[in-house]
Amino acid sequence: MAELSLKQAVKKYGNVQVVHGVDLEVEDGDFCVFVGPSGCGKSTLLRMIAGLEETSDGRMTIGGRDVTHMDPAKRGVSMVFQTYALYPHMTVRENMSFGLKIGKTPKAEIAKKVDEAARILKLTDYMDRKPKALSGGQRQRVAIGRAIVRQPDVFLFDEPLSNLDAELRVEMRVEIAKLHKQLGATMIYVTHDQVEAMTMADKIVVLRDGRIEQAGSPAKLYDDPDNLFVAGFIGSPRMNFFDATVMSTDNGQTMVSVPRLGDAPLPVQVTQALVRGQQVKVGLRPEHFAADGAMQASLDIDVIENLGGVSYAYSSFEGEAHPVIVELRGAARPSKGGRLTVSFDPSAALVFDDDSGVRIR
Ligand SMILES: Nc1ncnc2c1ncn2[C@@H]1O[C@H](COP(=O)(O)OP(=O)(O)OP(=O)(O)O)[C@@H](O)[C@H]1O
Ligand SMILES: [Mg+2]
Repeated sequence: MAELSLKQAVKKYGNVQVVHGVDLEVEDGDFCVFVGPSGCGKSTLLRMIAGLEETSDGRMTIGGRDVTHMDPAKRGVSMVFQTYALYPHMTVRENMSFGLKIGKTPKAEIAKKVDEAARILKLTDYMDRKPKALSGGQRQRVAIGRAIVRQPDVFLFDEPLSNLDAELRVEMRVEIAKLHKQLGATMIYVTHDQVEAMTMADKIVVLRDGRIEQAGSPAKLYDDPDNLFVAGFIGSPRMNFFDATVMSTDNGQTMVSVPRLGDAPLPVQVTQALVRGQQVKVGLRPEHFAADGAMQASLDIDVIENLGGVSYAYSSFEGEAHPVIVELRGAARPSKGGRLTVSFDPSAALVFDDDSGVRIR
């Protein structure tokens, strides 16, 4: 097992740079999740760590060893792909043994490692079947088994669950989390899925356009995002952002006006100095409306989704990119005319610079 360190890692394809000097530390035994929009460089970064893509510039170490230009087979990493990439003509046992066989591991040792991996992954009863006689989840477990038998220092997963249906995804998510606990291995996991990222990660790395926007624990990124992008990306339904103007900053108390939420100025908790008239963005998560808050707002509601325990009310406004989403406890109904009065606590609001999107704390 080992820690992983990237220093100013760069990837260029010809003249096109797609990873721009990434610095990252992943501790030994951590479960680290890469998230970000399509094309942001998640797979590229993972493949650079695996050695499947050459690192154009910068440095990479695994367990203190410089692996930047090392042969993939010598790095002590195993990768599990979205498409399981099993050999169709081989049985489960042969698929799981193949890599070790190529590496000339003694037969008895291969059998022992494969049996142990099969036990962990509950594949013992399927060892003589071919992949086509397995379910998607079972196939994915074989692919993971193939990685386990190599006893890597670092496991790399590229969206391993995205071909599975919703129920199986949840099941496999729990299985992988258990496996991580059991093996204590360092794991790096790429996903599009909010919930996977929030529930599985010790550390989430949010990427955009080949750069890290923020890295930290799920709670840190959720509660204390560094910028608009991370605030908007982490959390589902997403955070609401409102245009706002700084009204006053007397006695260290910053008051902002948020027209979308009514006429009353809102006190926000920032210690950085702002100036009167400054344009900012104010962020409030849907659940910040659910509690009994000090302030009230009246919103035009288009639709209410009732999920049983909670409901989400959607309020759209011409010219706004996203509807305002408000969480409500239990079933709620707007009044006649479609208006709904919601309360919220302005001290929960996050404030961002209007131009740069950087958080104002
Ligand atoms: N061989 C290549 N030549 C040129 N550009 C490439 C090449 N491979 C990938 N890219 C570019 O690198 C960027 C990052 O791609 P990457 O596959 O890492 O994205 P991703 O975050 O994994 O996206 P997705 O979520 O869609 O899988 C993209 O803009 C992509 O077009
Ligand atoms: Mg990808």
